[in-house]
Parts: sequence; C-alpha cells; structure tokens
Amino acid sequence: MKALTVVPLKAGTAELSDIDEPPRADGDVLVETLAVGICGTDAEILSGAYGWAPPGRERLVLGHESLGKVLGAPAGAPVSSGDFVVGIVRRPDPVPCPNCAVGEWDFCRNGQYTERGIKAHDGYLSERYRISPDYVVKVDPGLGELGVLLEPTSVVAKAWEQVDRIGARAHWDPKTAVVTGAGPVGLLAALLGVQRGLEVHVIDQMETGLKPDLVRALGGQYHTGAISDACKEPDAIIECTGVGSLVFDAIEHVGPGGVVCLTGVSSGGRTLDVDAGSLNRSMVLENESVVGSVNANRRHYEAGAEALAKADRSWLERLITRRVPLKDWSQALQREPDDVKVVVEVAR
Ligand code: BGC
Repeated sequence: MKALTVVPLKAGTAELSDIDEPPRADGDVLVETLAVGICGTDAEILSGAYGWAPPGRERLVLGHESLGKVLGAPAGAPVSSGDFVVGIVRRPDPVPCPNCAVGEWDFCRNGQYTERGIKAHDGYLSERYRISPDYVVKVDPGLGELGVLLEPTSVVAKAWEQVDRIGARAHWDPKTAVVTGAGPVGLLAALLGVQRGLEVHVIDQMETGLKPDLVRALGGQYHTGAISDACKEPDAIIECTGVGSLVFDAIEHVGPGGVVCLTGVSSGGRTLDVDAGSLNRSMVLENESVVGSVNANRRHYEAGAEALAKADRSWLERLITRRVPLKDWSQALQREPDDVKVVVEVAR
C-alpha cells in the first residue's frame, strides 16, 4: 500500500512509498484512511527538525491528524465496520510512569511515550492502518470529513481543561478569554471558548480575510494589536503561536487569578529582554498561573468529539481550506497564504 514516509531529522526526504500492509502488532482494528490533516509539527518533521523513526527503521510514516473508516474490528471492540474513527496520537511509555499507568499519557513523566506519525511509531498517512481498540475514537458520522479536525480539537480540549482545573482552585466564573493566533488550533480554541459561553477575543496579524471572518462568524472579536488593547484583564489566555513576545505579553496582561495556557511549540534561539522582577511581582500579587499543555488523552478526544458534533458544520467546513489527493501530497506540504487547515485525502 501507499504511505507518505520521511527520514526524521533529514530535510527533503518525504516520498510516497510502497510499504507492507499494517502489522498485526499495531492492533486488532483495521482502518481505511480517509483523510489526514497537516500541521506545524508535520512541517517541522519535514524540515528535518523533529521526529523519530520506529526502532531499527530509517523511515517513519507521517500523519497524526487522522480520519478513517473501520474495515474490521473484533467482537466486543468499541467500534465496528463502517464507523468513522480517529486514532489517538500518543501511546503510554512501557515502564509505565504513574501518569501513563492511569491513561494520562499526555502527562508522561519519563519521555518514553511514543506518538503515531511523530515519535517512534508509524503514523496514519497510509492507505490503511491498524490500531488497538483502546486508542481509537468514534466520531459523529454526520461530520463526514470534518472528523479530521478531532485531533487538533483534542489538543485545545485539553488546554481548556487545564485552564478550568487551575482556575477552579478559587471561585472560578470566567467571562473573557483571549486566544493568540488564528490558525487551526487558535480557531478551535476560540470555538471551545465560545461554546463555554465566554466573550472570546482572537489576535492575529491579518487585517482582513478568512481568519477575521471565521472569528466573527463564531461570535468572537478579532484584533490585530496587543493583548491589552483587545481585552482588559482576560480571565484566560490560550496562547497558540509560540511566539516569545506574545507569551510574555500574555503573562503580563492576564487578569488577576487568571490562567495563561501555552500550547505553541517555539523553535528557540531568540532572546527577549524581560523585566523578570515586575513579571514575578504581578504574578505573585495577582495569583496568576501559566501552564504548558501538550497532546491529549482519551478524555480530551471525547470532549473534542462532543465539541465538534455541536459546532456549526458550515463554520467547520471553512476551516478546511485545501484538500489534496494523496498522489499530489507535495502540494499539501507547501503553505499558501490563505491556508487554515490543509488535508490530504487518502480515500474518498
Ligand atoms: C500533536 C500532539 C503531539 C505534539 C508533540 C502536536 O502536533 O498534535 O499530539 O503531542 O505535536 O509531538
């Protein structure tokens, strides 16, 4: 079967390879891949900056934002033939650490977790894949191809869960939130914020076009300036860019008792002048929290699936700005100015 593979840590090595049918060891559920979303992590892997091949192998099958249709599942599995499903990305470490032992693999403590399509385990960008029933999530068939948005939605569902859990250490009745970045993660974070009944402000650079339109269509407010001009003392900030200056802007301007959740992975190597003393002073005197959040466990996939099921289909539809057939995979990897989410269609 065909699969998009790459040699991790070597730029320019992506190719459409012929590989063996998925190994039994990957699990008892056989899935036909329908579509796979492309994200910043894939771009990093393709640029040679990130990624690990499976042990003893040179190439990794790419793809972690999946949507597929079950071709076969054992009796008693939570999915059956014909179901639309998404594969969970991370697998617990083998030790396992205390978090992986209880299904909180997104909080793996020893770094020995694996991630499909990213770290030491083949991804979903192949015509078929196998998966254990424990790591497959059913999506509302009414979503059709929009189910491919579940993986990034699971990431923001986790981020919001962190915000709520930390906020709830005292009386927590948030009213306002700022989201920095109007890419797919930022827009999905804004969707979940609006679904929580919050006044949501999204900040990005484009003055006009699809991103501002999508924010307004959600009922959110779109801004191009600084956080302090967008919203005074927001209860929560979901930072989705990883841009250092925005990270510190968020920490400086979150409201008293507020929570800043960092979801963007920065590349590093850039330094900033920061008044560490006054930052510390305001964080202490106002009980502010900053939390990093990565990946998602089953609970977050389930919350994400619920959020997508109740979202406006036509709004979700506008997030997928390009669809590229597998044979033209290289087009999916080139970023175009109006791209929000680009999807590789593996089967129709
Ligand atoms: C994925 C996460 C993953 C992270 C780090 C992100 O793009 O959505 O599931 O944990 O990359 O590898």
